[in-house]
Amino acid sequence: MQYVGLLGTSEKIIKIEIEHMKLGLENKHFDTAFQRLSSLEGKTVAITGTTTGTGFSAAEACGKLGANVLLLNRPSNRADIAFALLEATNSNGKFFKIDCDLQCFQSVRSATTEIMARCPAGLDILCNNAGVMALKDIPTADGFDVQMQTNHLSHFLLTKLVFRLLQEAAQKRGEARIVNHSSMARLMVKKLDPKYLEKRGGNLGGDGSRLFIFQGGRWERYGQTKLANAAFTACLHVKLRDKNPKIKAMVAHPGVAETDLQGTAIADGGAGPSGGIGRWLIRQMMKMGQSQQDGAMGIIRCIADPEINSGQFVGPGMGMTALRGPALSYPLERFYNNPYTRDLLWEKSCEAIGEDFVI
Ligand SMILES: NC(=O)c1ccc[n+]([C@@H]2O[C@H](COP(=O)([O-])OP(=O)(O)OC[C@H]3O[C@@H](n4cnc5c(N)ncnc54)[C@H](OP(=O)(O)O)[C@@H]3O)[C@@H](O)[C@H]2O)c1
Repeated sequence: MQYVGLLGTSEKIIKIEIEHMKLGLENKHFDTAFQRLSSLEGKTVAITGTTTGTGFSAAEACGKLGANVLLLNRPSNRADIAFALLEATNSNGKFFKIDCDLQCFQSVRSATTEIMARCPAGLDILCNNAGVMALKDIPTADGFDVQMQTNHLSHFLLTKLVFRLLQEAAQKRGEARIVNHSSMARLMVKKLDPKYLEKRGGNLGGDGSRLFIFQGGRWERYGQTKLANAAFTACLHVKLRDKNPKIKAMVAHPGVAETDLQGTAIADGGAGPSGGIGRWLIRQMMKMGQSQQDGAMGIIRCIADPEINSGQFVGPGMGMTALRGPALSYPLERFYNNPYTRDLLWEKSCEAIGEDFVI
């Protein structure tokens, strides 16, 4: 909140609104879980979406553990400020800013060139964290749904493009990790629908915002992206297990964590965010949730906990009531970890990025 004055006008209005709704929940599990993590000295970690939220907390934790941390963000004041904050408060790690707008495949490609330059000895961990939620039914310039391209397709492309670096790190230092960030919203859709991975942005269910029982288009699309994150992990796990067992794939979810994500869930009626949830209800949900750092512990454990293995799902439980709690590990679920869904996800994602991803 201390840096709000440095933001642009529209950013400032949204930030103040979100900060106003936050309850300031305290950490309950973070410190204990942090003690179990391994040092990341000599390792390089790339994380998407570190301006705020779980990505910021993960970057902070990786820095404390001694890593070189590549911060992959779309260019903004928020990205500059987060970089400055991380540098100023963390003396163990080294931070590097890399422009990467996940709404644009070309931007992901350009980011990869910079990542390669920063990783002469390989990339140890890629954390595909960034996400948007309940946005309007609009296409990206590449023609895909804005939520699907940001949350999954660009991460699929990024993973493909840096895969060689992950192989190099695994060969030199014994292992590399790919960490994805899903959500309880995966449980709201259950079945991956291929149309959401196609070039049909702007024509995928409209702007309906009903969250419970009757799902609106905004939430259906979000749920599909979070199911895709889990299914992508299942695909990677199965392919890597046979061909590249030193590269591990895992996925986490934060329960409900007090981040900036709820900003787009607010029902505003006007031109602003309109995920259809009233401020009162958002506050009630947050009361049942947890702090940003506790929420981030799922991805942080996937990044740095030696006890987490490929094919595990880390979070505060696996059902719809897993809103808070210590980040524990569970097996991947059958509703996406099955040959049909894995093949579908892989085939449609390759089609979307316009190239094969062979492991
Ligand atoms: N918080 C929760 O309760 C919750 C629950 C379930 C799952 N998750 C998942 O957790 C992950 C992190 O979310 P969060 O809760 O930490 O939300 P957040 O505070 O809103 O952070 C989201 C991050 O994603 C970045 N991002 C958005 N669009 C991007 C783009 N086009 N290119 C690059 N970066 C982009 C944002 O950067 P900008 O500043 O540029 O927008 C921000 O750094 C998401 O995948 C989300 O689905 C969160």
